[in-house]
Amino acid sequence: MKHLTRLMDLTEKEIHDILNTADQLKYEVQHDIPHPRLQGKTLGMIFEKVSTRTRVSFEAGMYQLGGHALFLSSRDLQMFRGEPVEDTARTLARYVNGLVIRTFDQKEVDDFARYAGIPVINGMTDAAHPCQVLADLMTVREYKGSLEGLKMAYIGDGNNMCSSLIVGALKTGMHIRVACPEGYDPPQEILDFAAGYGSRFLLTRDPIEAAEGADDVQTDVWVSSGMEAQTDRRRCDFAGYTVTDEVMAAARADAILQHPLPACRGEEVSGEMFERHAAEIFDEAENRLHVQKAVLVKLLGREPASV
Ligand code: CP
Repeated sequence: MKHLTRLMDLTEKEIHDILNTADQLKYEVQHDIPHPRLQGKTLGMIFEKVSTRTRVSFEAGMYQLGGHALFLSSRDLQMFRGEPVEDTARTLARYVNGLVIRTFDQKEVDDFARYAGIPVINGMTDAAHPCQVLADLMTVREYKGSLEGLKMAYIGDGNNMCSSLIVGALKTGMHIRVACPEGYDPPQEILDFAAGYGSRFLLTRDPIEAAEGADDVQTDVWVSSGMEAQTDRRRCDFAGYTVTDEVMAAARADAILQHPLPACRGEEVSGEMFERHAAEIFDEAENRLHVQKAVLVKLLGREPASV
């Protein structure tokens, strides 16, 4: 593994290795065991979109690993005045040991990976959100003990989260049912990938059908960053796709609810369901820190010794 641009590029073993390292690093944080595995390393963080969790967890994670993180907002780089990605990538690679990029177009992340010659991590694009889904898989494994054979349900937009969840769930032996309104299905490339897993994948228009017997129910906002002009239309189109008591009642009694955050209560999730499952949702947010540290250690540093 040279980069983390999308989960599609990882093997099941690589995903499990990241999750195992994340568990180890979480243990070390919780037991105040110093783990400066990236001493002297610098991570550049290019953000063309706002972020709370991704930015802060990468920055705090690099500090905990003994390294340093440089936050580079859209105001800070010549790239945003037209300097080509390939020149920016080749320049930054002379200063830093790795890059995190949050942007719109997946091609930009892929181009950074192609030209930089240092590890590149996708901090979210319109196509994929691999760091979030690795944290989700870590959280499911914490609550359920393993992933193999578990049932995930995703209710909502067939967006970057949905695509990465489909890939992450299927690669780790889970079943996944996705309920999207017509016109909001995941991209064909993802549906073609899922078709290779036969009955472990189902696309439906019915949130209850998706949630039936699920161990893990997932959702995401109806209006992602950059789609604000579509707010009214999306609120209409997604009516009936709120994760409510009725949807959760269709899942297993011990099902967990996950949300990448930020959440819009009353849209994709009812306020009552959000608060009932807040412990799981904020464990998931915490696990962004641990799983991204694991990715950083894998890409920029040495492996930790096992517990
Ligand atoms: N879930 C997530 O990526 O959160 P941020 O947008 O706050 O980084």
